[in-house]
Amino acid sequence: MHAPEDEPVEPPGPRRPVDADAEVGVGPWPGGPSAWPDDPRLDPELLAAGDRRNVVDRYRYWTVEAVVADLDTRRHPFHVAVENWAHDLNIGSVVRTANAFAAAEVHVVGRRRWNRRGAMVTDRYQHLRHHPRVEDLLAWADSAGLPVLGVDNLPGSVPLEGYPLPRACVLLFGQESVGLSDAARAGARDVLHIAQFGSTRSINAGAAAAIAMHAWIGQHAGPPPSD
Ligand SMILES: C[S@@+](CC[C@H](N)C(=O)[O-])C[C@H]1O[C@@H](n2cnc3c(N)ncnc32)[C@H](O)[C@@H]1O
Repeated sequence: MHAPEDEPVEPPGPRRPVDADAEVGVGPWPGGPSAWPDDPRLDPELLAAGDRRNVVDRYRYWTVEAVVADLDTRRHPFHVAVENWAHDLNIGSVVRTANAFAAAEVHVVGRRRWNRRGAMVTDRYQHLRHHPRVEDLLAWADSAGLPVLGVDNLPGSVPLEGYPLPRACVLLFGQESVGLSDAARAGARDVLHIAQFGSTRSINAGAAAAIAMHAWIGQHAGPPPSD
């Protein structure tokens, strides 16, 4: 018997116990306050209590402001925009990936509120801008001199694979059910599709955004900073 489409299926076998004691990150700075480094980027609360955040090691104990300021010195010139007409759950994932690849900014088009769950608090470190309508995003991009590239598997789209992505650009994604709006399609310089080979009509919008951002990284980014 087939499970209904989209219904989550439990894998067979016993459930793995969750290790409630497993901790990520680092504990309090050893030696107490007298041993704390004299560095204004460090947060006394984190030094005292430990830093369990989902940050790379070089940012351990840093204040959020210090992390943002450091990222600002080396953000990449690509922007990410996503249409949000129905509180798309993928936006959090898009924000998290944009943070991982140091995108300049994430633009949310449509509803201002979006579901932050998948962002895993990366939105604190990411510049975000809201545009009520697609036309507002397009006008902003035009004034910033940025070409807008739609990403969707629509008629007339061209393959992302082998497409020379501009260094400075906006990658615009549609939302889960309906994809890019007509206004977004009309305003994009090109619409790019990710080649698919199976039976599903499309991939998850968050996954598509990750692939497209990584395509930009593959074409333009140097090596990441070391910890
Ligand atoms: C579920 S898809 C949209 C529906 C799709 N246009 C269709 O015909 O079914 C939601 C979003 O994910 C992204 N996406 C999904 N699959 C993609 C693919 N193969 N190529 C490019 N973008 C894709 C696009 O940004 C799209 O707007």
